[in-house]
Amino acid sequence: AVVPVTDRYQRPLRNLRISVTDRCNLRCRYCMPEAEYVWLPRKDLLTFEEISTLVDVFMSLGVDKVRITGGEPLLRHDLPTLVGMLAPKPGLRDLAMTTNGVLLADHVSALRDAGLGRITVSLDTLRADRSKTLSQRNSHPQVLAGLASVAPAGFTDTKIDTVAMRGVNDDELVDLIEYGRTVPAEVRFIEYMDVGGATTWSPDLVLSRASMLSTLRAHYGEIRPVARVDAAPADRFLLPDGTVFGIVSSTTQPFCGTCDRSRLTADGMWFRCLYAMVGTNLRDPLRDGASFEELRGLIGGIWGEREDRGAVDRLAERDRTPFVPVAALKANPH
Ligand code: GTP
Ligand code: 5AD
Ligand code: SF4
Repeated sequence: AVVPVTDRYQRPLRNLRISVTDRCNLRCRYCMPEAEYVWLPRKDLLTFEEISTLVDVFMSLGVDKVRITGGEPLLRHDLPTLVGMLAPKPGLRDLAMTTNGVLLADHVSALRDAGLGRITVSLDTLRADRSKTLSQRNSHPQVLAGLASVAPAGFTDTKIDTVAMRGVNDDELVDLIEYGRTVPAEVRFIEYMDVGGATTWSPDLVLSRASMLSTLRAHYGEIRPVARVDAAPADRFLLPDGTVFGIVSSTTQPFCGTCDRSRLTADGMWFRCLYAMVGTNLRDPLRDGASFEELRGLIGGIWGEREDRGAVDRLAERDRTPFVPVAALKANPH
């Protein structure tokens, strides 16, 4: 039976993001800027069975939305098998995946057949030269081919995630929305955040929600807000022609007050907040033979004590003190 837990601010635990690998085949400058990383050894990764067991435990505490992420999730061998294990779980309302799109065209049909519900593709620019500068790889054609493969494979409700950066892609907002209409996919502009590998983050690079809206208003005319349906981080907007787009304004207008999400890393660390510096090791109890009820007690208890409001705290800190770059925050927003 599902017995929902809430934290110290009465926020439920409904949304779980599962990283299935720490590896990536791109080197986006705001995420994995270095040429070389030391990847987790295979034995440290949760197996598909372990992930499935944990999903059962999380679902018994109220989780009904799961998102598969990375690194780049399609680098995990045999990912459709995991999808096939998760998709049939009764009560799982939403099973989605966030990918950089490079390998998507190769796997899209298998993912669909396995029961994946929705796909979100990261795309910051429509220009191959900019993509190369941003991602330090020449993969733009594959990403576009990946996006083109999603609708023909039968997926709907596709989204595009665009990290909007001042002086980098701020002149492409309209082009990206227009491109999204052709996919079709709902474009979401994400304010650049000082998390994870964003070691060269600076407030000057943040394109704020306010300035994005004013650019788009100048082009499209009236922009109306769309009423919220859940605790999703994006605010959605409607253009006069009926197109919907979103803005994730975690940097200038944090949404911690309604945040119902937590994240599980590929090696089984569980974090209650994107900005959390400390997580809970779930892999060791799992491998030491903890029962379902023991895992449930552990996770439920820790969620019950949750007080995190990472993005709100970061904003307050920035307002108080001169900006100091944070070199190595733990999480990445995948
Ligand atoms: P749906 O709205 O259900 O499609 O899911 P989603 O919004 O969680 O999807 P996605 O993974 O595409 O997240 C969009 C962006 O929101 C991410 O790229 C992050 O930039 C941001 N985001 C996701 N989770 C968090 C979080 O816990 N905290 C903050 N501050 N930002 C987040
Ligand atoms: N700020 C905002 N978004 C980021 N992403 C990765 N790093 C950052 C950052 N520092 C985005 C990716 C992807 C999404 C899942 O998270 O580009 O679109
Ligand atoms: Fe890879 Fe995504 Fe990070 Fe880019 S943002 S380096 S695609 S994990």
